[in-house]
Amino acid sequence: MKTKIIISLLVLLIAIQFIKIDRSVPENFQDYDFLVYNQTNAEITTLLKSACYDCHSYETKYPWYSQIAPVSWYLKRHINEGREHLNFSDWKYLSEEKRAHKIDECIELIEEDEMPLFSYSLIHKEAKLSEEQKEQLVEFFKAL
Ligand code: HEC
Repeated sequence: MKTKIIISLLVLLIAIQFIKIDRSVPENFQDYDFLVYNQTNAEITTLLKSACYDCHSYETKYPWYSQIAPVSWYLKRHINEGREHLNFSDWKYLSEEKRAHKIDECIELIEEDEMPLFSYSLIHKEAKLSEEQKEQLVEFFKAL
């Protein structure tokens, strides 16, 4: 009985590997990018790319474990949701009003330690922002 359950689970685990996540991105998305648009300096660029861009842009760097279902589905859900709320790769498409609103939200969520997502900064040490880095980002967003 136990062996049967284990075998069934293994078969299921293998079967779900065929359900791949969609990693496609639009062509030329860099032309609409927030960092390009604002001619952001190297330091801020690095900070945003390592702390936010995996979920809030089309420049997602997929880690090796993103190849494995169901982990891949979990990551993709965060990426989809993140892009839906704020996609730095779509910046040029946004109205002035929308941009101002997104910038305000960035300031708020960084100050409140809500972004980057906790589960993400646990694994991505480089994404965890120090007090100094938070201040740097907040100053940057406020100056826009
Ligand atoms: C692991 C993925 C992930 C990372 C990394 C991440 N976010 Fe998010 N972000 C999300 C998700 C998912 C949501 C939507 C759900 C929520 O608010 O929790 C969101 C929501 C937001 C929102 C709210 C937008 C709205 O319209 O409500 C802002 C602003 C934001 N993130 C900014 C940032 C910034 C700035 C960083 C980097 C410092 C960052 N995020 C890093 C996943 C992420």
